[in-house]
Amino acid sequence: MTGARLDRLKRLVRPLVPAGLRRAVRIALTPAHERYAQADLERVKAVTAAVWRGAAHRSAKYVPGYWDEVDRVERRTRASRRSEWLAALPPFAAAESALEIGCASGRNLYVLQERYPRMRLGGIDISPEAVAHAQSRVRGEFLVGDLYESAAMLAGRTVDIIFTMGVLIHLHPGALPGLLAEMRRHARRHLVLCEQLSGTNEVVKGPAWWRPSRKVTGDYIQWSPDLPAMLRRLGLPCEVSDVPGVLQSNGARHLVVVPLR
Ligand SMILES: C[S@@+](CC[C@H](N)C(=O)[O-])C[C@H]1O[C@@H](n2cnc3c(N)ncnc32)[C@H](O)[C@@H]1O
Repeated sequence: MTGARLDRLKRLVRPLVPAGLRRAVRIALTPAHERYAQADLERVKAVTAAVWRGAAHRSAKYVPGYWDEVDRVERRTRASRRSEWLAALPPFAAAESALEIGCASGRNLYVLQERYPRMRLGGIDISPEAVAHAQSRVRGEFLVGDLYESAAMLAGRTVDIIFTMGVLIHLHPGALPGLLAEMRRHARRHLVLCEQLSGTNEVVKGPAWWRPSRKVTGDYIQWSPDLPAMLRRLGLPCEVSDVPGVLQSNGARHLVVVPLR
């Protein structure tokens, strides 16, 4: 059976099979040596980095999906309106430069460029195709880089704001304190994190044997990290609020603003 046929068959059968049974089958079909543990930072890091690095090869919709036609005002969507809301936040109004880590195809940066044409912008992402798209639309300094290698990635950069949207949720919580400390070192005024939080580093998505709280989806891993507690431990007080309900989406529900002076 071809891959496309198998996918069609899976889509038809899926709603007929209870989620618990699907999970049990998936666990049974995964050889024990492939069942990496949640605490195994090195294996989780390798899996997630590979997923995102190759996303554009696996799905033709990956780059346009994140770009979201933000350059066509008549096609405004929830994601493009969320980018506009983000750009209108007070920290950006007072900033001369901003760097987005996990910028994908540059939707947030493009909206910032439209609103503040003089702002110096930069973006980093692990997907070369996404970065190439961002570079073709946004004037700025871009880098294809892995957030797990944050010290190398941020070396030599200092900007007013470092921000993220729906990115830290994909990194192992064990790697986040180090990344946040590097972000703090390279930002002058604010960190702005638009993510999804929980007080328990809840596993939202992940391999079936992790028993994620929402959906069992192959190698797609998502946490709701406890960023405020991590920031507190770094001596960084923050303000936490909700993203306006109509602009929320999976992974972008909370806003964490960290003033740095
Ligand atoms: C859910 S998308 C969010 C994209 C964008 N911030 C937005 O608001 O549309 C997550 C992004 O994080 C990037 N990413 C995930 N893991 C990464 C890693 N280890 N290093 C660099 N980028 C990573 C992905 O390539 C992807 O572009």
